[in-house]
Amino acid sequence: MKPIRIGLLGCGVVGTGVVRVLQQNRERIEAVFGRPVEIEKIAVADLTRPRMSFVPVAKLCDDWKRVCTDDNIDVIIEVMGGQTAAKDAVSVALQHGKHVVTANKELLSTQGGALYELARSRNVRLECEASVLGGIPALHTLETYFRVNQIRKLRGIVNGTSNYILTKMHADGTEFAEALAEAQELGYAEPDATMDIEGLDASFKLQILAKYVSKTVTIAEFKAQPSGISQVTQQDIQQALAQGKRIKHVVSAEFAADGCITSMHVGPQLLSSDDVLYHVNGVQNALELSGDIVGDILLSGPGAGALPTASAIVEDLAKVYPTHLRCLGNSSVMSVGSR
Ligand code: HSE
Repeated sequence: MKPIRIGLLGCGVVGTGVVRVLQQNRERIEAVFGRPVEIEKIAVADLTRPRMSFVPVAKLCDDWKRVCTDDNIDVIIEVMGGQTAAKDAVSVALQHGKHVVTANKELLSTQGGALYELARSRNVRLECEASVLGGIPALHTLETYFRVNQIRKLRGIVNGTSNYILTKMHADGTEFAEALAEAQELGYAEPDATMDIEGLDASFKLQILAKYVSKTVTIAEFKAQPSGISQVTQQDIQQALAQGKRIKHVVSAEFAADGCITSMHVGPQLLSSDDVLYHVNGVQNALELSGDIVGDILLSGPGAGALPTASAIVEDLAKVYPTHLRCLGNSSVMSVGSR
């Protein structure tokens, strides 16, 4: 059977995670998709950078255009990050009739409208679950589940790096700089960590989430003015703890009955222990959704890191190539329809 052929743009923490997940789950993925999924080419910025031993170096090149225009490639997985080159690369890929799966929140929050339009015009898919909340199926839930409920409010912890730093600062008195260095070491932070600690990454994610709730507006109309955690000191943390509270980096948005966004907020907040977000620690992310019928529900899980993000990417691939098969356990596969 002809394989699904992938062009991977970027091979940093997340790209390497994608290579690993596709290799380590080869048989299961082939069973689910009904054919192999193979990486055809990997575009990277620096060919000389050391790679993990399982990365197929023979497939590396330093020219994303070659990958995005390659007739042998069916799907582009974009994990290079940033805006300018990523926008060009995704646009070229879509124009060449390739599906795109991306983890790029900055790109989607700033250029998402035009890129979705382009994807529609070329009859290809643009999927982006990995751009928000790491491995948590937040966009999938918003897209497929809340058809009758109106979401009136969302609140969340959406930046794993900030949550990791604050958790360390509360737990054992770690200073900000040390906790940030750990988050970087663990592969949670953006290449430019100011995106994380100044609230920009969270703001991009909030804009994407809000767009999924409020389909009547364009993202560009709602720029949340973000603030981050870079100014939070150990003294602030001790004051919070003395009150039985924790400082958390929280995003929120409220929606009117017609779906219009009425408020957006991104910044550190003092939370008490009766708040569900108080209990979300480390690199975990969470999204609290308030539906007018269901009430409040909480989605939570790993919000950053190679495998959770790669997980969201391969699940997106399964959306692009729908299958009636669901993998159950290690080896058995059955038709969902037969359950
Ligand atoms: N730097 C991001 C975070 C990565 O810490 O949440 C996942 O989007």
